[in-house]
Amino acid sequence: MRAIIAHSSDRLVWQEVPDVSPAAGEVVVQVSAAGVNRADLLQAAGKYPPPPGASDILGLEVSGTIAEVGEEVDRWQIGQPVCALLAGGGYAEFVAVPEGQLMPLPDAVELPHAAALPEVACTVWSNVVMTAGLTAGHVALFHGGASGIGTHGIQVARALDCRVAVTAGSTQKLDLCKELGAEILINYREEDFVARLRDATDGAGADVILDIMGASYLDRNVDALANDGRLVIIGMQGGIKAELNVAKLLGKRAGVIATALRGRPVAGPSSKSEVVAATVENVWPMVADGRVRPIIGAEFPIDQAAAAHELLNSGDVSGKVLLRVDG
Ligand SMILES: NC(=O)c1ccc[n+]([C@@H]2O[C@H](COP(=O)([O-])OP(=O)(O)OC[C@H]3O[C@@H](n4cnc5c(N)ncnc54)[C@H](OP(=O)(O)O)[C@@H]3O)[C@@H](O)[C@H]2O)c1
Repeated sequence: MRAIIAHSSDRLVWQEVPDVSPAAGEVVVQVSAAGVNRADLLQAAGKYPPPPGASDILGLEVSGTIAEVGEEVDRWQIGQPVCALLAGGGYAEFVAVPEGQLMPLPDAVELPHAAALPEVACTVWSNVVMTAGLTAGHVALFHGGASGIGTHGIQVARALDCRVAVTAGSTQKLDLCKELGAEILINYREEDFVARLRDATDGAGADVILDIMGASYLDRNVDALANDGRLVIIGMQGGIKAELNVAKLLGKRAGVIATALRGRPVAGPSSKSEVVAATVENVWPMVADGRVRPIIGAEFPIDQAAAAHELLNSGDVSGKVLLRVDG
């Protein structure tokens, strides 16, 4: 089979590699498309090694068709269209997937476009709802509202009847967020998000903040939280170390949590399988009836993976970037 091998961060070569086969409890998926994630850029640059036991080929999500079924798999059959959350291996013609990380193709989504869903859907649902308890009537703030994560988060929060605030770096990106249902639109290059959020919420702030900046936003995120609010940090684009004013948290009974999806175990408590099952149960109905759709900013043939990485890195794209393996 062929897969992308990262010889360096900008030399991603589509080349022959050893075939994969399913271990017990796994299936092999023939890949239609793979989603590009910021983690793939970091891994290609040698800064984000795969967790122990995971494929060292890039790619954290795919859509495709089941080509082989391993022993002890009873829920899935050859020929079924699926998408899947991976710990690695997606930039390839075939990938082996633990059965708990497979998701049925949602109604109303074409097979290649389903590759835009697993990472964002599992990340948003696990953090914003399972961890932070977002529920109807809450105010949710998504930093990077026009990102893959942000464009999905806005739609899920609206489907849950929440008010949505976003930050983004341009009017064009804020327009997309508005079209998806965001109401409080903050240009982080020109405005103070704490002040804007307080103004828009009678001083209350956000019940849930999904943050991708880390250190550089920590103090202001705590300021922007409502009483009993939850700040969930999933990205470190603004650094890893900052001072946390515990008194501010204490006064608000607020919480700060940081999580990563890739390193979760395959099965058991807090696992990828648990997150995948909850996401399929709760988000797939929203996708099936059109309240949530994949937002795809660009598609590239798989042998142009380096150009896809360059585009995501440039910031000159909204929503997800896909690599097409099916031509
Ligand atoms: N922990 C996990 O399990 C997990 C899982 C998936 C993703 N992530 C992380 O989530 C983040 C988003 O992922 P993605 O794939 O959706 O990335 P992406 O599409 O590349 O988006 C990155 C976003 O960062 C925004 N940004 C940059 N500087 C900002 C600032 N000062 N304030 C607010 N936003 C800013 C950009 O906004 P503009 O373009 O508007 O400037 C852009 O939308 C990444 O950091 C990724 O590593 C974490």
